[in-house]
Amino acid sequence: MKKSSLTMCILFVALLIVSGNVPRLNAQEANQGAVTNLTTHYAAGRNFTAGTISRSDIEKILAAGVRAPSANNRQPWHFTVVQTPALAKRIVSNITDGNILIIISAAGDGKTNGPAILDCGLATESIYLAAQALGYGSRIYTGPMNTVNGLKTELGLPSGYSAVALVRVGRLDPPVDATSAASARKSLDTMVTYK
Ligand SMILES: Cc1cc2nc3c(=O)[nH]c(=O)nc-3n(C[C@H](O)[C@H](O)[C@H](O)COP(=O)(O)O)c2cc1C
Repeated sequence: MKKSSLTMCILFVALLIVSGNVPRLNAQEANQGAVTNLTTHYAAGRNFTAGTISRSDIEKILAAGVRAPSANNRQPWHFTVVQTPALAKRIVSNITDGNILIIISAAGDGKTNGPAILDCGLATESIYLAAQALGYGSRIYTGPMNTVNGLKTELGLPSGYSAVALVRVGRLDPPVDATSAASARKSLDTMVTYK
């Protein structure tokens, strides 16, 4: 290629990039990462390993919760990040050093406050998935909710709020195979109807 043609070619590509007119991924390709995240997550447990989580990663995980959809965009949730080991251990007794607990709470008793429970569930899922997308292990818990709701004062839950769920987040032992770590799911044909 002649030098002048090469220069023209470089200028053309530079112009395309500056104008933002570069070829984009089609919708299928663009969504693949998100779908992979939705189909390869698993609830971490024995494979948690000691280690801290940076404040900036905690904020990224919380941002996913804040961004969750909610009925009439009411955003009824409050997030409580439990980092104090002694307090976290009172809620999840076998907790690993450095794990944090993110408690999702809403006004009411945490059981009967209608759409807020579903909204909190969506925020819980977003937090759970965001943590895994950042390379951490995560697990949703509702079992310890009575314990959490018995510690409202120590946890500083907003007045009149009750915990709906919590997400445990922590570092993972690296050699974990996500596919075999997840438990099996029922097959599609047992739970889907097409009409
Ligand atoms: C609403 C909800 C409540 C859960 N509560 C607990 C819990 O209290 N204790 C626990 O060990 N795991 C709890 N889990 C984790 C589930 O057991 C886990 O997500 C499920 O077995 C699927 O695991 P897998 O994604 O690794 O296949 C809960 C999960 C959800 C979605």
